[in-house]
Amino acid sequence: MALLEKINKTNVPKHVAIIMDGNGRWAKKKGMMRIFGHQNGVKAVRASLEAAVKTGVQNLTLYAFSTENWNRPQAEINALMELLVDTINGELKTLNENSIRLHTIGNTTSLPQKCQTKLQEAINNTKHNTKLNLILALSYSSRWEITNAVKNIAKDVAEGKINADQIEEKTIGQYLNTSQFPDPELMIRTSGEYRISNFLLWQLAYAELYFTETLWPDFREDDFYTAILDFQKRERRFGMTTEQITA
Ligand code: FPP
Repeated sequence: MALLEKINKTNVPKHVAIIMDGNGRWAKKKGMMRIFGHQNGVKAVRASLEAAVKTGVQNLTLYAFSTENWNRPQAEINALMELLVDTINGELKTLNENSIRLHTIGNTTSLPQKCQTKLQEAINNTKHNTKLNLILALSYSSRWEITNAVKNIAKDVAEGKINADQIEEKTIGQYLNTSQFPDPELMIRTSGEYRISNFLLWQLAYAELYFTETLWPDFREDDFYTAILDFQKRERRFGMTTEQITA
């Protein structure tokens, strides 16, 4: 039986977040430059989008470039930015054909102007699509996001827009970049690294974490389905007992 058919469509995570890791190592194993790994990583992005649409996942966040990635060699940064623009150019039609809406989170004003323009075009161009939200985390780090949220909350308190005593967990969520999306229920990280790396720290509070040895450029639809099937085996207790949740 194909893996896709084994998935229970009534229990699919509403939001899947992926740390796409291992591009550099994949390229090195082939004796190629790191950028070759990133270029092949685009195939895995495409496969994940296809798998998300087929399974009915409504939100997919991809960690495409972290705040810390600005410390990489300038040539790799430039190549990644170019790849981002090329990928958007190449995939826009497919996004629209599959009703995929593009969003970004992160400090996108720090991206090169060409990237910002291209992203904005694609965001506008896909804004009526409803099947899947593709959320690209770009120049993103969770501590940056939380710091900003705290600053903005403090400003709104100072201006009397909100009352400090009325700040709830929900309020914090509303000040994060992800305010319009549900929290991820499943986080996948490839390449055998077991870290969260400053990714959606607040939002992943109750997410199931799934780690695979597969390097990102090798990640395909079946790998996505395997992660979903693993998620469906987990018992999500949210701090309660097994008896409570099965009652
Ligand atoms: C991590 O692998 C990957 C990145 C920092 C970049 C991810 C980018 C892509 C997959 C390409 C474009 C994506 C989109 C959405 C257009 P790494 O370089 O850290 O690998 P390593 O740990 O083996 O060195």
